[in-house]
Amino acid sequence: MFKKGSGKKNLVGLDIGSSSVKAVELGKKGASLQLVNLGFENLQTDTIVDGQIMELNNVSNVISQIFNDHQIRTTRVCAGVSGHSVIVKNIVLPQMSQEELQESFSWHAEEHIPFDIADVNLDYELTSKSQDALHVLMAACKSDKIANVKQAIQLAGMQPVIIDVDAFALQNCYEMNYQPHPGEIVALLNIGAATMNINILNGTRSIFARDASVGGSQYTSLLQKELGLSYEQAEAVKRGMALPDSVEPRPIQPIIETVSETLALEVKKTVDFYRATAQEGEAAIQKILLAGGGSKLPGLAEFLAHRFEIPVEVFDPFRQIEVDAKKFDPDYMREIVPEMAVAVGLALRGVEA
Ligand SMILES: Nc1ncnc2c1ncn2[C@@H]1O[C@H](COP(=O)(O)OP(=O)(O)OP(=O)(O)O)[C@@H](O)[C@H]1O
Ligand SMILES: [Mg+2]
Repeated sequence: MFKKGSGKKNLVGLDIGSSSVKAVELGKKGASLQLVNLGFENLQTDTIVDGQIMELNNVSNVISQIFNDHQIRTTRVCAGVSGHSVIVKNIVLPQMSQEELQESFSWHAEEHIPFDIADVNLDYELTSKSQDALHVLMAACKSDKIANVKQAIQLAGMQPVIIDVDAFALQNCYEMNYQPHPGEIVALLNIGAATMNINILNGTRSIFARDASVGGSQYTSLLQKELGLSYEQAEAVKRGMALPDSVEPRPIQPIIETVSETLALEVKKTVDFYRATAQEGEAAIQKILLAGGGSKLPGLAEFLAHRFEIPVEVFDPFRQIEVDAKKFDPDYMREIVPEMAVAVGLALRGVEA
């Protein structure tokens, strides 16, 4: 799950989200990065439920459709996993050799994983060493979740070469685009339909990453329930459309804010944890960068800025990537930029040295 190179180059970053599939292929032009291909297709509701792909054929058809429509020839894919099957944690271990660490890691990891260790894929990265301790970033994902994702990709005739963690893909995307310095402390939030990935970074070091089960679909469900709307109507109302005439007029802001409060509470838990564990001299979080379709909710950025009293900005996954306006419509790109952060981060695994 950690960066160990992808062997041969050419790789498509494939983000299978619960509401849509996004694909990104990047290329190198001299020293700079270029967008080669981009695809984005919605999934029917209930195709992915609680992080599990229920309808493998639907997902593989959508993947095939994206590759066909955009004439993507690369078949090697880097996909991501997120949600409650994924555990990411910074752990501190006693000083030991690399070999000892490799041998004993799963034993050390066991106490941090709420699942049977036999049922998870485990990976780690040594982040720093001190005189008597090793600081290790651990990533674990339930094996059946990885198998499920791989199966959907293989059914579409593609090869799943790397399975990454969405929160790390988001981080890679941030590092490449923003080149942060140590001491720049930023909270990355990727608000999807079902999951919000949170990653707090000091420069390029992840201090704390977790996924919370809250996202855009929670707004839609609550609007449906409270106002008796269909899914499509609730999605439209959420995006700022007026209520349909058939519905008794009612302020929707309080309904929206109920979910925003839940979301802010999840962010607060993480921020509080950061504050409690911050090392001496480590500064406060300076800004929040927002990605994911859920971040496009009208007023959400302002709501979070007000709640946390720090600037909230829209994350730009193409900040350092050349995007040819003749090939990719600028209006369309502006519209979908927030959703593409993870796919760009996954695609970066194909162009790294
Ligand atoms: N303009 C908008 N205003 C409000 N919400 C929006 C807007 N556009 C998209 N969304 C919401 O964004 C969510 C989809 O975002 P995204 O594509 O990042 O999620 P996903 O990757 O499919 O899901 P997940 O990662 O949680 O499995 C949906 O809930 C959708 O309703
Ligand atoms: Mg997503």
